[in-house]
Amino acid sequence: MQATKHPRLHQLAQTHQLKGLMTIIRDQNTERGEFVFYSDRVIRLLVEEGLNYLPVVDKEVITPMGVPFQGVAFEGRICGVSIMRAGESMEQGLRDVCTSVRIGKVLIQRDERTAQPKLYYSKLPKDIADRWVLLLDPMLATGGSAMKCIEVLLEAGVKEERILFVNLICSPEGALAMLQQFPKLQIITAEIDEGMDERKFILPGLGDFGDRYFGTE
Ligand code: URA
Repeated sequence: MQATKHPRLHQLAQTHQLKGLMTIIRDQNTERGEFVFYSDRVIRLLVEEGLNYLPVVDKEVITPMGVPFQGVAFEGRICGVSIMRAGESMEQGLRDVCTSVRIGKVLIQRDERTAQPKLYYSKLPKDIADRWVLLLDPMLATGGSAMKCIEVLLEAGVKEERILFVNLICSPEGALAMLQQFPKLQIITAEIDEGMDERKFILPGLGDFGDRYFGTE
């Protein structure tokens, strides 16, 4: 199946606004302040979209006009989990939308001996098994770190169908590998790119997100 057609890979509406924001952050000439500002705007859109996948219950309120309004209220409790370091850039976007949201962190790096992703650190909310999890990492390249992180979440008791992986750009092969490995996972992304180079950077991509966001280029 093509990544763009996968029912569990949800792309933001491809509006002119989103295209304009993505054009700025993909431009190699964009300096750091602007990169952070416009990335934050895309992250906000992604988080808002992610919330669409949470369950709701019917709720009636009375408006100031004294008239009932049939609405909904969110039912599931959520938390964020950021994959360090780049995923930390997405934490504020989540906090801006969900006040006092709990945020766990996971550090996964490539083990030089085995070339496999290895867990170095994790700190998760104690009641994470009862929550929906927005997993935060801006770039989905091979998906190796994210898949390792999902294993950590599953071991902590999180239900797979309650994991929403939120990223700005994904490679088609990384997204498909993840969706195949985890048949209930949902991915929310802004754009699906063409592929990766030999160093596993996404093409056309935007370079190293963490370096550009945190100014460590
Ligand atoms: N991480 C990045 O920051 N950029 C890529 O292209 C791939 C992984």
